[in-house]
Amino acid sequence: MLSPTMENALNQQMALEGYASFLYLSMASWCDREGLRGCAAFLYRQSEEERSHMLRIFNYINEVDGHALVPAISQPPHEFESVRSLFEQVYTHEKKVTASIHELITLSYKDNDHTTLNFLQWYVNEQREEEALMRNILDRIKLIGEGPMSLYYIDKELEKINKSQIAAEASEEEKA
Ligand code: FEO
Repeated sequence: MLSPTMENALNQQMALEGYASFLYLSMASWCDREGLRGCAAFLYRQSEEERSHMLRIFNYINEVDGHALVPAISQPPHEFESVRSLFEQVYTHEKKVTASIHELITLSYKDNDHTTLNFLQWYVNEQREEEALMRNILDRIKLIGEGPMSLYYIDKELEKINKSQIAAEASEEEKA
């Protein structure tokens, strides 16, 4: 049974994951418009992933007899200064999500809520992987540089990263 504080905090976390999904969708749209197909494909997939993170919490809350509330999601920005600044914003948002997951963990210790503590471990691992991935992308963008010629190579890199993410997910699903 969730404490009211935990139920509310998990519902808040859903809003954060939902916002990430909308933010990355908006970023994908901007990339599409800029002709950056590799970046767009990567972000469309990330957006879907965030939606699945939101639904995982949604299902958990109801499974443990709470009430999952569909969150109101604010409109994300539509314009971005550059590809580098866009991915810096992704990384910043991921760090915010990580901090929020860690707060939920602290709360589950306070509540002596082992079930939620166990449920949250998946998110701890996921956030470690997502932060590492975004740092890796930012490192590559810095190495390639950001002139008009560089955008083509950045986009190719993102296309490669996206394909390897899809392959890794497929192999995980096979194992499951
Ligand atoms: Fe679900 Fe990337 O935070």
